[in-house]
Amino acid sequence: MNYYTLPSLVLILAQLWLCTPGMQRKSIKSADQSFTAFRRVKRGWIWEPLFVTEEQITKMPLYVGQLKSDLDKQDGSLQYILTGEGAGSIFIIDEYNGKIYVIQKLDREKKSFYTLRAQVINRNTHLPVEPDSEFIIKVRDINDHEPQFLDGPYVATIPEMSPEGTSVTQVTATDGDDPSYGNSARLLYSLIQGQPYFSVEPKTGVIRMASQMDRETKDQYLVIIQVKDMVGQAGAFSATATVTINLSDINDNAPKFQQRLYYMSVSEEAPVGTTIGRVMAEDSDIGENAAMNYFIEGDSTDVFDIITDNETQEGLILLKKRVDYEAKRRYSVQAKAVNRYIDERFLEEGPFEDTTIVKINVQDADEPPVFTLENYVMEIAEGALSGSLVGVVTAKDPDNDDSPVRYSIVNGMILKRLFSINEHNGTIITTKPLDREIAAWHNITVTATETRNPEKISEVNVYIQVLNVNDHEPEFPKYYETFVCENTFSGQVNAVTLDSCPNPPANSEHQCSG
Ligand SMILES: *[C@@H]1O[C@H](CO)[C@@H](O)[C@H](O)[C@H]1NC(C)=O
Ligand SMILES: *[C@@H]1O[C@H](CO)[C@@H](O)[C@H](O)[C@H]1NC(C)=O
Repeated sequence: MNYYTLPSLVLILAQLWLCTPGMQRKSIKSADQSFTAFRRVKRGWIWEPLFVTEEQITKMPLYVGQLKSDLDKQDGSLQYILTGEGAGSIFIIDEYNGKIYVIQKLDREKKSFYTLRAQVINRNTHLPVEPDSEFIIKVRDINDHEPQFLDGPYVATIPEMSPEGTSVTQVTATDGDDPSYGNSARLLYSLIQGQPYFSVEPKTGVIRMASQMDRETKDQYLVIIQVKDMVGQAGAFSATATVTINLSDINDNAPKFQQRLYYMSVSEEAPVGTTIGRVMAEDSDIGENAAMNYFIEGDSTDVFDIITDNETQEGLILLKKRVDYEAKRRYSVQAKAVNRYIDERFLEEGPFEDTTIVKINVQDADEPPVFTLENYVMEIAEGALSGSLVGVVTAKDPDNDDSPVRYSIVNGMILKRLFSINEHNGTIITTKPLDREIAAWHNITVTATETRNPEKISEVNVYIQVLNVNDHEPEFPKYYETFVCENTFSGQVNAVTLDSCPNPPANSEHQCSG
């Protein structure tokens, strides 16, 4: 047989719906113009797609298509032979007319096409009428799979105040059906819960912000996304997924003091470093966006300080310098709270700080008397007569009521016996002549006690030096004491000799003993 002169074997590939008896003899081309037929002129085969729809259940073999030769006189002289995948088990052929039938249920998701070979031979000569040819039967999809969200439930985080349209996350469903045929695997996403805050792109599953949201109002949203196959049309399968969307904080809130004015007080007795009070600014942000530092401003920054308590976010106002009720009773400072980390994007929304006024009253304290000197150094000539003036100490009550004070010497009996103090005016006098050779110094402690509040007592040291009167005459004090006129006044350190005795000063309280 001549390859070129023989009419072609025509393989008619029919869709399954052509199996219905009334349509079997219809031309495939006229039945469906969308078939992508092409002609292989050399071989004379006409190939067109051949389909079996999956999941067909029937007791009878279902017609698929027909192998046909022009040389077939329908006298039974030609034999059609089918080989290849599923030949004889899944697909059978009527060897007299070339009709192919499927005898099993097929599952596209397991095997989507079968490769077979067609042959036609002369029954008598067993010689091929046409060369062998390979062809494919495709399994056509039906919508037998539901879409599935494989990665759900989803969690996503997006900064608060993100502009409308910002992409939050994407959910993706899969569908086992054939994406290249029909709508079975064409998915459509929609939002079941989450309006009006979020939207979902129907085709991509991308979730977007649908409005600007403030974390300080609500920080978590539960969004439910539904996916349907069949582009959502009737007969579609669907699935849902939940998406938890958390809003993360940005620094969009400034600190704000709880009070515009704070009142505090501090005792004038309080030592440096005393905590006078606390101020607190609140910030509705969280974490480092809420962290703040406190500062102090105003005229009295030399007197008061502020430190930031990182645990409590409070500002602690401390005493930096002691205050004095009698000098200044009222102070006013400004406390300022400033966010530690500022998001540059929000700079134009104003300064991320706040100030408040702190008024501090100084409380009067009943303070003990204060001596005019920290300590006193006095001198007395050795041998000076009992009653000689050594010196005067003075203490005053610093308080406004200015209580009178009483003086006293508190040292042990011996020193007490050597000196006495006038309890009203602090005048210290000797009670007996002093001997420098016994002690060159007499260090005593004097107290001043407020008469109106005897608990308020101050002490001061008084260092009394006994001065040497005459180095040349070591015996002199004896004689002086024994024989010399007691004309010595406190503070007088000039040498006194026997010769000076005859003319004692007129105001002397003492009498010559000689
Ligand atoms: C202190 O009082 C005594 C006794 O009244 C008096 O002798 C003395 O001069 C007074 N001293 C002073 C410094 O006023
Ligand atoms: C008293 O004080 C003076 C001066 O501070 C000192 O030199 C002296 O040693 C002291 N004497 C006594 C007994 O404390």
